[in-house]
Amino acid sequence: AVPVIAIDGPSASGKGTVTQRVAEALGWHYLDSGALYRLTALAARKAGVDWNNEAAVAHIAAHLPVHFAGGLTFLGDEAVDDQMRTEEMGIGASTVGALPAVREALLLRQRAFRQAPGLVADGRDMGSVVFPDATTKVFLTASAAVRAERRYKQLMEKGFSAKLQNILQDLEDRDARDAARSVAPLRQEADAKLLETSHLTIVQAVNQVLDWSGN
Ligand code: CDP
Repeated sequence: AVPVIAIDGPSASGKGTVTQRVAEALGWHYLDSGALYRLTALAARKAGVDWNNEAAVAHIAAHLPVHFAGGLTFLGDEAVDDQMRTEEMGIGASTVGALPAVREALLLRQRAFRQAPGLVADGRDMGSVVFPDATTKVFLTASAAVRAERRYKQLMEKGFSAKLQNILQDLEDRDARDAARSVAPLRQEADAKLLETSHLTIVQAVNQVLDWSGN
């Protein structure tokens, strides 16, 4: 089977950056599964569909006209990277991600990213639901304070305005919702290695994952 490195963990833990760099280092494919949940929330918003309308949102998820090209994410012909990276769409992603039919609708789309020579996948349930047979499973985290700092810097760099205190509150609310939901709750799998990155640089975290994966 094509090898998969599954990297799961809470919001703003640095998973996205680490996953991307591990994929680059290995020359493997990269899956940002959170992007699919954010896109579903965004597409629902654009269609005027309520985030809690399970059947309607699942229909949107199953038919998302998404493609990735030149480092950009397109919904139809529109590049939507800025629109999907807002905190509001993070909340939307976590709201639609709590609906079982939505998770089901996105399952095969995520598995389709598993292509030779390998895949590095970032999310909440990569090691538990989407790729339970992953070759390497990592639970990547950091303290809430460090994660709020990281998200704050990321939003500032993109020119969004935000308050650190609000970000911290939002992360804690979102983690609580992600951990409490009935389907694919956020938690460290028994066979996942814990990578606590509060005091690690990106390079150190990337090297640890590469080392665990035997690459
Ligand atoms: O970047 P950040 O960690 O804030 O979020 P993300 O990875 O883009 O995911 C946004 C939200 O989508 C999360 O809070 C989860 O509720 C949901 N999600 C999920 O349920 N399952 C995944 N595999 C990925 C994201």
